[in-house]
Amino acid sequence: MATIPENNAFAPAVWDLLQGHHSAREFTDAPIDESTLDNVLTCGLRAANWNNGQHVTAIVLRDSHRKQQMAALCGNQASIARAPIFVVLVMDFCRSAMAAQQHGRTQRVHENQNAVLIGAVDAGIVLGTLMAAARAAGLAVCPIGGVRRNSADVCTLLELPTLTYPLAGLCLGHPAKVPAALKPRIGLQAFAHEERYQTQHSQDSLAPLDAQYSDYSEALGKASAPVWTDWISKRYESADYADVAQVLAQQGFHLV
Ligand SMILES: Cc1cc2nc3c(=O)[nH]c(=O)nc-3n(C[C@H](O)[C@H](O)[C@H](O)COP(=O)(O)O)c2cc1C
Repeated sequence: MATIPENNAFAPAVWDLLQGHHSAREFTDAPIDESTLDNVLTCGLRAANWNNGQHVTAIVLRDSHRKQQMAALCGNQASIARAPIFVVLVMDFCRSAMAAQQHGRTQRVHENQNAVLIGAVDAGIVLGTLMAAARAAGLAVCPIGGVRRNSADVCTLLELPTLTYPLAGLCLGHPAKVPAALKPRIGLQAFAHEERYQTQHSQDSLAPLDAQYSDYSEALGKASAPVWTDWISKRYESADYADVAQVLAQQGFHLV
């Protein structure tokens, strides 16, 4: 186990790394060395998780044909095929069911909506950990929720057994370019509310965020790009991912 220096000397570097997060969709052709990949995956493996039930399995795709198939299933996302490695984070209650069987018990945890929340939170923690670990090694990352766009076919491609479901993916590769600017966020006051939800802080965050989006678009040379309120509200008008509940049921999650 690594020791942290007593003077917290790591903190500024770690904060810089995390506060400089950005998603990348262009990668060079350079492969990721195996030791780096093993270390990144081990960071994800060591992440905190519900009950130490370890309800996330990572599936590593390297084969270019399979990455192309995955790219198509995720909504024709070329970045998946371009990345040398694509990792799919699978919610996994199959392994704990094996433990139950070994002890003559019946697993019930996956019969409740909470199972999906367990899987989603744990996969999110793994995803964030993998991204930080990869970026610390100079790699570029892009999380991909598109694995749920055609999730029945993703289950087939990955040969996922009952009681598993693909929650998120992650493109890993060497960055092909440096971003011109980071994508804006709401202010810290709108993100972190004191003691109770502050509706006004959320309302007040919209206009400054829209203004930042205009500056961001300009920095990227896209003067006519929509502002955040316009963009997010348009995106959320359509009911994508409508078959998720059905595919979860096919995978053995009969949720009440
Ligand atoms: C769970 C999750 C799913 C995402 N899915 C996709 C995706 O399918 N395709 C994509 O290009 N970006 C995807 N993203 C990246 C977001 O679009 C990106 O994080 C967001 O726009 C903020 O930009 P930034 O990461 O560069 O700061 C996803 C991010 C997360 C956390």
